[in-house]
Amino acid sequence: MTKKIGIGVTGGIAAYKIVDLVSRLKKDDLEIVVIMTEGATKFVTPLTFRTMSGREVLTDLWQESEQYKVQHIGVAEEIDLLVIAPATANFIAKMAHGIADDLLSTVVLAVTSPVLIVPAMNSNMYMNPIVQSNINKLSQVGYHVMAPAQGDLACGVSGPGRLPEIEDIYQEVISLLDPRQDFVGKKILINAGSTCEDIDPVRFITNRGTGKMGFCLAREAHQRGAEVILVSGHTHLKPPSGVHFIPVWSADEMYQQMLQYCSECNIIIGTSAVGDFKAAQVADQKRKKADDRSEKWILELVGTPDILKELGKQKQKDQIMVGFAAETENVLENARKKIITKNLDMIVANDVTVDGAGFATDTNIVTIIHRNGEAQAFPKMTKQEVAAVILDQVAKLLDNPKDEE
Ligand code: C5P
Repeated sequence: MTKKIGIGVTGGIAAYKIVDLVSRLKKDDLEIVVIMTEGATKFVTPLTFRTMSGREVLTDLWQESEQYKVQHIGVAEEIDLLVIAPATANFIAKMAHGIADDLLSTVVLAVTSPVLIVPAMNSNMYMNPIVQSNINKLSQVGYHVMAPAQGDLACGVSGPGRLPEIEDIYQEVISLLDPRQDFVGKKILINAGSTCEDIDPVRFITNRGTGKMGFCLAREAHQRGAEVILVSGHTHLKPPSGVHFIPVWSADEMYQQMLQYCSECNIIIGTSAVGDFKAAQVADQKRKKADDRSEKWILELVGTPDILKELGKQKQKDQIMVGFAAETENVLENARKKIITKNLDMIVANDVTVDGAGFATDTNIVTIIHRNGEAQAFPKMTKQEVAAVILDQVAKLLDNPKDEE
């Protein structure tokens, strides 16, 4: 049966972004009932949401309804999930105190489905102890609350309070609708992004890794119930909400952080494009160019730690370790060798020269190879879908550890 989602839009500037969320959810053939507060209608017209959701938008507690005997109870009874996005400080306060003075707040009290709250507001308002205490109260009584993103806000300040990315909200909605919790009780350590190696105080060496694959894996693992530690080198991406995020700069720093958390984790996944070389000497001062531009600078490089190989040496019997092999030739053969040299259980191989695969794309074309030689090639998929199939395979290993012997 088609699942029905109530989207409660309250009066914050981020209300306009929820139009995209409705459109994204409609593509999955979900039925959407949009309920707007009066404040929300000042930012976006109900007509916009009616057009996107294909249904009458509900705004008025006193509106005569042909569909329901008692409108707010009828709506509350038929939805499988209620999402409040954006949730303003005012609406959060009303929820925390059981106030029901408009249609949406009345529906909130009447629903028995899970409720997802997505706060978005000015940073000072968000950090205000009263708002924080209201949010805590709501979490404690079982509402799901997403952490807002950090960044520039419409009011001109920068800090926590931004609406999370629509993709993050979408993924949270999907996992609440269909909770596949196969990683509950598991701790996963993931590295992502590219590492940077300083040459002098202003220059560094890096590579084309973007962190997309690792961030998708972290999001997927979190949604499936895992506790996730994401150690990331340079990236422009925002960390998914709910994961323990540790930003690092160099391969050495990444290695130290991974080493610290490795022994307490059940699963270690290395997606990071770790730089293989660093400057033999990092200059204390910026190297000046000579007026004569004919000079040459010969940079001496030395190896960085092979993080997975080092962690592989101390892998515990029941730990699962997954690596990535981004290759430009002999993809499967090279990937198989890495399983052995790095003591991995599984490797995700891809040819980075193929269109739609590898660095900086939103899609990837991968073959997953197991230690026992089994290999499965997948068609072109989004990196989020790739993350799901990788975790499906990891889940199988958790269920049948002997398969790999
Ligand atoms: O040997 P290669 O660099 O091709 O192996 C790729 C895999 O090894 C990836 O999972 C990558 O994260 C990991 N790696 C690492 N430390 C390095 C280089 C790669 O952990 N210094």
